[in-house]
Amino acid sequence: MERTLVLLKPDTVQRRLVGRILGRFEERGLRIVALKMMSVSRELAERHYGEHREKPFFGELVSFITAGPIVALAIEGPRAVTTVRAMMGKTNPLESAPGTIRGDFGVAVTTNLVHGSDSLESAERELTLFFSPGEILTYETADAAWLGG
Ligand code: RTP
Ligand code: MG
Repeated sequence: MERTLVLLKPDTVQRRLVGRILGRFEERGLRIVALKMMSVSRELAERHYGEHREKPFFGELVSFITAGPIVALAIEGPRAVTTVRAMMGKTNPLESAPGTIRGDFGVAVTTNLVHGSDSLESAERELTLFFSPGEILTYETADAAWLGG
């Protein structure tokens, strides 16, 4: 069982797509184990996206993710990191396949709706940035036996 961090970025909230995108993760059989709407401070944005600090788009990225409320989620399931990344689609919505979140709703590379951790190591680091340990819940769902893992 893996845990990963998903962010529904400010464009998802502004475009009123929170329910639809959240629903996709539930429909896939993944389990939401933490969920909060929050503002991202500049400091948190710079830590979260630290690997991109030297990239030309870093400033735009930080401005965007701090521009309005986001929804942060901890999502759990068998191979959750890979599954979530596949559901998101390629970074640039112009290249994302139909059926993926970015391929169905995406507009541009910055306004690409969702973030998902890119590895188990990233997931552990990023979950700690966004959630205190007590905010991530442990529970079973009644259909667990039918969902593999
Ligand atoms: P994310 O971290 O948000 O889940 O996206 P990702 O793994 O698919 O893409 P990553 O390479 O980690 O880039 C992080 C975010 O930076 C923005 N970006 N802009 N202008 C550009 O060329 C460019 N490239 C990346 C995107 O918003 C991307 O989600
Ligand atoms: Mg990334």
